[in-house]
Amino acid sequence: MSEIAEQYDAYPYPARDPEDERRRLVTGSPSWLPEVEHFLFAGRRDWSRPFRVLVAGGGTGDGLIQLAALLDHDGRAAEITYLDLSRAARDIAERRAAVRGLSGIRFVTGDLLTAPELGRFDYIDCCGVLHHLPEPQTGFDALAAALDPGGGIGLMVYAPHGRSGVYPLQEAFRALLGGLPPAERLARARRILEQVPAGHPFRRNPHLSDHLASDAGFYDLLLHSQDRAFAIDELAAMLGRAGLALIAPATPALYDLARLLPEGVAAPEALGEVERMALAERLRGTIRTHAVYAAPAARAARARARGREMGLVPLLRGLDAAKLARQIERTGRVTLEVGGASMNDLVPADAAPLVARIDGRRSLAEIAAQAGSEPLAFLGLWGRVDRVLGDWGLMHYCSPAPA
Ligand SMILES: C[S@@+](CC[C@H](N)C(=O)[O-])C[C@H]1O[C@@H](n2cnc3c(N)ncnc32)[C@H](O)[C@@H]1O
Repeated sequence: MSEIAEQYDAYPYPARDPEDERRRLVTGSPSWLPEVEHFLFAGRRDWSRPFRVLVAGGGTGDGLIQLAALLDHDGRAAEITYLDLSRAARDIAERRAAVRGLSGIRFVTGDLLTAPELGRFDYIDCCGVLHHLPEPQTGFDALAAALDPGGGIGLMVYAPHGRSGVYPLQEAFRALLGGLPPAERLARARRILEQVPAGHPFRRNPHLSDHLASDAGFYDLLLHSQDRAFAIDELAAMLGRAGLALIAPATPALYDLARLLPEGVAAPEALGEVERMALAERLRGTIRTHAVYAAPAARAARARARGREMGLVPLLRGLDAAKLARQIERTGRVTLEVGGASMNDLVPADAAPLVARIDGRRSLAEIAAQAGSEPLAFLGLWGRVDRVLGDWGLMHYCSPAPA
């Protein structure tokens, strides 16, 4: 058995109790369904065709259960395949699906390099896996080969700067504890960590907490046998070599260079989009993971929804439209904490009646008509809303769920 399979059999990740499915749904990026439709299917997928999904390296099932539950809730026809090396992780994922009554998922124990043998998929979720492969590029290539030309991928890989302090500790633990059984490694590493001085970059990094959450979290963060991080430009290059293109991060604003530069300081015009994002990542310094969407390069320009089509239907994520509209009306801003970053962006108070009408059912045309906004003026104002709520991952365009 490989060391990776041994780790995830001993500590299936993330630590989950299937019984918790009775009281909450774990949601996140990638693979929140409206987000998938927004970034990969231009906000209007044809749901009359079954959605063929592969969850590659599905672990204990967070992405799998999120997708299966949301598709089931919306009454969308789907064919879902789960694939992971670890038998123990799969057992937990299967039990979670059973508790929710989500039947019909195909569970496969195996290497994601075999993904193309399992079929062609409209969507592949691969969260927290590719950075653990001995040769990550082979993983990108395998997923690209398993993708339908009209499909796309939701991906999460580690990012270097927000994980500062992790890699020196991993190296030290590997040298000191390599060869010991997983439980013994964990016990000793916990004791060593207690002695690590307060000035160590790991101790000073407020963005890391997995090691506090569970044994599986500690092991995954600090005792991994194979783990590397990619800057966003390295990630884009690996996608490119696999014939894929980076569509966008799930929260594009985090990578927006303009938001990080003071007035009067502009980036050189010659910089490309990925280079700008790479500079933003370095200036921000706190990004721990890249949650991104990617699609075959040939259709990259058509994948992402743009808020200029009046037939699109916007949906807020985790926000109350009326409350948000009141904040915009009162302050002319949206001020929120999003994914560990503080946003404080200008949105004209005139846009409040538009925001108040976002309900995941009304199209932009209906919102404009009901707010009494004339189309051209509407598009100008809506562009300002879109740049803030859309870029912070707080609003997506997606098909209304059937009533
Ligand atoms: C950090 S966990 C992530 C689990 C899940 N995707 C999530 O985000 O909660 C990584 C998972 O990838 C699996 N894995 C690692 N390398 C793999 C490979 N080559 N093929 C299939 N699964 C793999 C591990 O067994 C483990 O369950």
